[in-house]
Amino acid sequence: MIMSGDARKTAEGLAHLSGFGNEHASEAVPGALPEGRNSPQRAPLGLYAEQLSGTAFTEPRAHNRRSWLYRIRPSAAHPAFTRTENGSIRTAPFTESVPDPNRLRWDPLPEPAPGTDFLAGLWTLGGNGDATQRTGMAVHLYHATSSMERVFGDADGELLIVPELGGLLLRTEFGLLPVEPGQVALIPRGVRFRVELLDATARGYVCENYGAPFRLPDLGPIGANGLANPRDFLTPVAAYEDTEGPVEVVNKYCGNLWTATYDHSPLDVVAWHGNHVPYSYDLRRFNVLGSISYDHPDPSIFTVLTSPSDTPGLAGVDFVVFAPRWLVGEDTFRPPYFHRNVMSEYMGLIEGAYDAKTAGEGGFVPGGGSLHTMMSAHGPDRETFDRASAAELRPQKVDDGLAFMFETRWPITLTSRAARAEHLQQGYDDVWSGLERHFRPLH
Ligand SMILES: [Fe+2]
Repeated sequence: MIMSGDARKTAEGLAHLSGFGNEHASEAVPGALPEGRNSPQRAPLGLYAEQLSGTAFTEPRAHNRRSWLYRIRPSAAHPAFTRTENGSIRTAPFTESVPDPNRLRWDPLPEPAPGTDFLAGLWTLGGNGDATQRTGMAVHLYHATSSMERVFGDADGELLIVPELGGLLLRTEFGLLPVEPGQVALIPRGVRFRVELLDATARGYVCENYGAPFRLPDLGPIGANGLANPRDFLTPVAAYEDTEGPVEVVNKYCGNLWTATYDHSPLDVVAWHGNHVPYSYDLRRFNVLGSISYDHPDPSIFTVLTSPSDTPGLAGVDFVVFAPRWLVGEDTFRPPYFHRNVMSEYMGLIEGAYDAKTAGEGGFVPGGGSLHTMMSAHGPDRETFDRASAAELRPQKVDDGLAFMFETRWPITLTSRAARAEHLQQGYDDVWSGLERHFRPLH
């Protein structure tokens, strides 16, 4: 059994590589990485060479993602997978419930049974698209009380993990990647990993992106710097497990979980190079840009990562952060405006409060979430509207919370579990009730 204290000791002082989308290279043993070619007749140190393709061979060079792995055994050396229980994990297309136009909000997931690992603790809220068509996304939450002993890999998409409570140590084919609340981690499609807990319990959110890999948004007139800066993304250095003996490997494929018992650890990559790699990012490093005159820009200005679709400017999913920032707009209603959006917005809260919603029990709380799906009307609640409309407009620091959004081009349809969950709040609509009529026609 892996204890959280041991995992935390391991996570301390880990080396990393920096830069988003870089052609990284790393070897855990000197000389393990071939020089000058990817697939020599005999790979160094008796390793097997294997390519892992995250994009088609022929995708444009700027978007192409692949890595070369040098491992003790090739991934092909495994027995047949057999179906296993999907637990609370669901996959697009989502057909369990009728798409619901209502504004919805959930409390945090309830405490799981003791011994629940990250995979068993994954709970799908909903999503869109079709995993077999590699379009769309799913919103998952997780609540775990135990480190994984098994290994997981997701053929259906990449996993953007957003911890809210408790740190995680991700043991991946590429090395060890710690991630704490306030940071996010990304496991690329197909990459095998194990989640160990750095604390007694772990809770958070996951965006499973079936579409094009997340990339940094273009900056246009912003210029060469700003928003999430590439150098702040961290990738592990090579580290491997050389263990013989049974290891359960779970493979998520076209919506179902499949399992096989290997006779060795598949986390046996001694060296690697490439750009289809896991990474982490500290959301507090986000360079928040905003208005220094009046109004505030659309929240797309807070985009950390984007998964573009075939239509320019129309993301399959954007990951957006509402990080600490100054508000200085003159004659401006400063909280986010009232809004109806063709895009669908799932919001979560990592810590503190969000400036458009009153905090506290029964409200928008860390670990909870809200869904404002296509064209649903949302915006500041009554209390926030009243306060912001009367506030004296001095420069104001908003630094009491860290919220995020998964914003997607298609409506989000709920799983039946999410639609019927006990932690689905009743009466969310009431936060907008009592918004008074102020209209006074001049006579
Ligand atoms: Fe909105």
